[in-house]
Amino acid sequence: MSIHTRTKRITVPQLVAMKGQQKIVALTAYSSAIAKLIDPLVDFILVGDSTAMVGYGRPSTLSMQLEEIIGHTRAVVDSTRLACVIADMPFGSYQESNEQAFRNCAQVLARTGCDAVKLEANQALAGTVEFLVARGIPVMAHVGLMPQFVNVMGGFKAQGLTAETAAVIAADARATLQAGAFSLLLEGVAEGVARQITLDSSRPTIGIGASPACDGQVLVTEDVLGLGGEHLPRFVKQYADVGAVIRDACERFAEDVRHGRFPEARHCYGL
Ligand code: KIV
Repeated sequence: MSIHTRTKRITVPQLVAMKGQQKIVALTAYSSAIAKLIDPLVDFILVGDSTAMVGYGRPSTLSMQLEEIIGHTRAVVDSTRLACVIADMPFGSYQESNEQAFRNCAQVLARTGCDAVKLEANQALAGTVEFLVARGIPVMAHVGLMPQFVNVMGGFKAQGLTAETAAVIAADARATLQAGAFSLLLEGVAEGVARQITLDSSRPTIGIGASPACDGQVLVTEDVLGLGGEHLPRFVKQYADVGAVIRDACERFAEDVRHGRFPEARHCYGL
């Protein structure tokens, strides 16, 4: 279905059916304003735990809290009506046990109305993916560069550049797909690895720094808009400099206030 003829929110099965038919387009959103703007333009919106870094200015995604992701996801769901909405499960909210994962994912779905969750899931977590899917929770599995493993990896590094790490990513992808993940998000993955996983999978792969071989692409909206800070990863394409627009508007406001040019009579209430 073309995005122009869509009248209802896209469902998880509809996203899956897009594989091989059309490229899947996704962006992140954490706030109502951005969500409203991108809703008619994308197939799904990811309420990423990158909010911790982009929205709160923290050094990694590890500090993201369940209540925070619930608040942001609720704002995005309430402000949209067309795009599928997927919430990122924060670090520590699903790794302890299948029961903990179910309790927290169920809360996210019930309290926000989102369509699915995303988990950074390797082979060790495939059992959890299976447990969740069997109980009605659609799971997108995030493999490759997993930011919640930043301390294990020693930084945010592209993955799959050696035969050994390529085999690990392929095994993570296979295990989570077998467990029932409806889609794979491949982050920072070497092109050949992403291509092979995409060819082998009947479900869509969504790439971020994982080459055009993927079935779809996602980027962090702030990076696309030029609000993402100074050091952007190589995989980002910045499409606008909204930061410059904001700086200019705010500078002019400050000047107007300082020189008594704002507010004018038309901005004031009479008696
Ligand atoms: O948290 C996030 O924004 C992500 C990216 C991969 C899009 O997971």
